[in-house]
Amino acid sequence: MAYQIEVVVGSLRRDSFNKQLAHALTKLASADLNFSFVDIGVLPLYSQDYDPDFPEVARKFKQQIESADGLLFVTPEYNRSMPGVLKNALDWGSRPWGANSWKDKPAGVCGISLGATGTALAQQHLRNVLAYLDVPTLGQPEIFLKYSDGFFDEQGAIASEDTRQFLQGFIGRYEAWVERHVAKK
Ligand code: FNR
Repeated sequence: MAYQIEVVVGSLRRDSFNKQLAHALTKLASADLNFSFVDIGVLPLYSQDYDPDFPEVARKFKQQIESADGLLFVTPEYNRSMPGVLKNALDWGSRPWGANSWKDKPAGVCGISLGATGTALAQQHLRNVLAYLDVPTLGQPEIFLKYSDGFFDEQGAIASEDTRQFLQGFIGRYEAWVERHVAKK
């Protein structure tokens, strides 16, 4: 069975390592997963004043999340947390009250950063928010990656065979996680 996966990248940087990682992951997945990327950069800063009448970009964003079978979050760490742009997207999707678009969407989280913590703290904060939003999130394997030159090869694939195999295992577990949750609905 084919599953529609919406990928949410927590960086707007043009040459983002996390965006590259997300694309590399899509290539490691089985043909049953169809990936689209969500553009969280088009969302204005959320204010509760929007609740009675969401702007068109926010309505489209919510529809894109709601149409997904699964979500894949790939995020950098900013100041030991997730970037504000990602939190802003989570807030938009959660509102107006009673219309939480994220609810029950099976998710995976991963990330890459320059620091030795490999986005661990950003992911922990993200997991906290996802738990509150009723998003069942794959627990293991955890993916904490530290970027260094040569991490991606010239085709954008993961250069290290060991890391590639590890990430292949992650995406396989993620697919099973999505399947399990879709089957329960
Ligand atoms: C960072 N960076 C960073 N790295 C890290 O490992 N832990 C951290 O807490 C932070 N904090 C942080 C704050 C801000 C505002 C910036 C701009 C950067 C460095 C970060 O890992 C690096 O910039 C990555 O390249 C960001 O990911 P993308 O944009 O390449 O996907």
